[in-house]
Amino acid sequence: MDSIIVTGNGPLSGRIPIAGAKNACLTLMPATLLSDEPLTLTNAPRLSDIRTMTLLLQSLGAEVQGLQEGQVQAMSSHALTSTRAEYDIVRKMRASILVLGPLLARFGHAEVSLPGGCAIGARPVDLHLRALEAMGAELDLREGYVHAKAPSGGLRGGIVEFPLVSVGATENALMAATLAKGTTVLKNAAREPEIVDLAQCLRKMGAQIDGEGTDTIEIQGVDRLGGATHRVVTDRIELGTYMLAPAICGGEVELLGGTIDLVRAFCEKLDEAGISVEETADGLKVSRRNGRVKAVDVITEPFPGFPTDLQAQMMALLCTAEGTSVLEEKIFENRFMHAPELMRMGAKIDVHGGTARVTGVDTLKGAPVMATDLRASVSLILAGLAAEGDTVVNRVYHLDRGYEQVVRKLQGVGARIERVRGE
Ligand code: UD1
Repeated sequence: MDSIIVTGNGPLSGRIPIAGAKNACLTLMPATLLSDEPLTLTNAPRLSDIRTMTLLLQSLGAEVQGLQEGQVQAMSSHALTSTRAEYDIVRKMRASILVLGPLLARFGHAEVSLPGGCAIGARPVDLHLRALEAMGAELDLREGYVHAKAPSGGLRGGIVEFPLVSVGATENALMAATLAKGTTVLKNAAREPEIVDLAQCLRKMGAQIDGEGTDTIEIQGVDRLGGATHRVVTDRIELGTYMLAPAICGGEVELLGGTIDLVRAFCEKLDEAGISVEETADGLKVSRRNGRVKAVDVITEPFPGFPTDLQAQMMALLCTAEGTSVLEEKIFENRFMHAPELMRMGAKIDVHGGTARVTGVDTLKGAPVMATDLRASVSLILAGLAAEGDTVVNRVYHLDRGYEQVVRKLQGVGARIERVRGE
């Protein structure tokens, strides 16, 4: 298995291009199932999760092609051969559940394997199912699969009130509602930029949607959707991750394609810590103000709050801050697995339930480390950039799920990092 070796670094400088958002692409791709006309996505990232979604759509009979080295995904679902998403693919990636709403809305029935838990928590899909039930779907859980059936005239509009904010459940409900009869109102909906991106794409396909980006989305169902071409929004998590590289190492790096709107709550915390962020014509320029980074407290929340997907990376920064920072993880119950690995590098961290207290040390020391999820893996790379000596990050396949060209992008700003091929 490949590994990545990071050697502690001085200041970084240069520019890093930020890719299209993995999480936006993973919901835009299933949207193709809503129409028999082609959907083309530009600015699609080249990632293994995108390949997994490609395989899933192909297993249903959709045509999916990566064009121009994968930067463009062209999809067509004019002749599907199956409405069943098999366990073998779904277990690899939870976002597979996002085919359920579109299949049910267009074909009136679908069978999708339940995704099961994952490293960061139990992550049930009850909210997805409740939303579809509110649109008249009959659901039956048998042999590990959700068997879903729409009423004879198809899904009908309904009021869906989410008891807690869920990105995926909002996306599934939004897609299903575009073809339901009548009006659907999603209350306590997620407001993430990826939801706004999905709504904009669906509108280009002919959907009638109001209120995306607020907590109430209203959808007027239409009889059919057409094709569209859509540019995937910038990946705010990749953006935030690379903003932390100059914050940790010093120097100045410009993140191409970044905007403050995508990462406002995160920028506020960087400012408190002593990191400057400036909007430029091409993106965001990040530099560390003089002196050591200051401790800050962080609570993860749904958008527009501080994203859970940047919590691990922020912790890497705070490991060498002056003072003690308190990080509270409010979205997932088991999302501090990076803490023991950071401690192997000399970090001082106390974890109690959903709270981690991080007391900054002068320097971290390189060590062999491994991580059990995507964001944890990249936090170890960031920590390695700040550490004395070599850090060897194992289980690199997690990174390949969500970071395109991580080694090349960091080398481009002067980081000492390389990928070593394993057996
Ligand atoms: C998405 C993102 C993921 C991010 C997360 C939170 C994608 C592909 N993934 O995941 O990177 O970390 O949003 O920003 O976009 N929940 C339930 N029942 C449900 C659904 C969710 O209890 O039916 C809970 C989850 O366990 C979690 C919370 O709700 O505690 C939020 O999860 P959710 O927003 O649904 O995350 P995902 O859409 O899975």
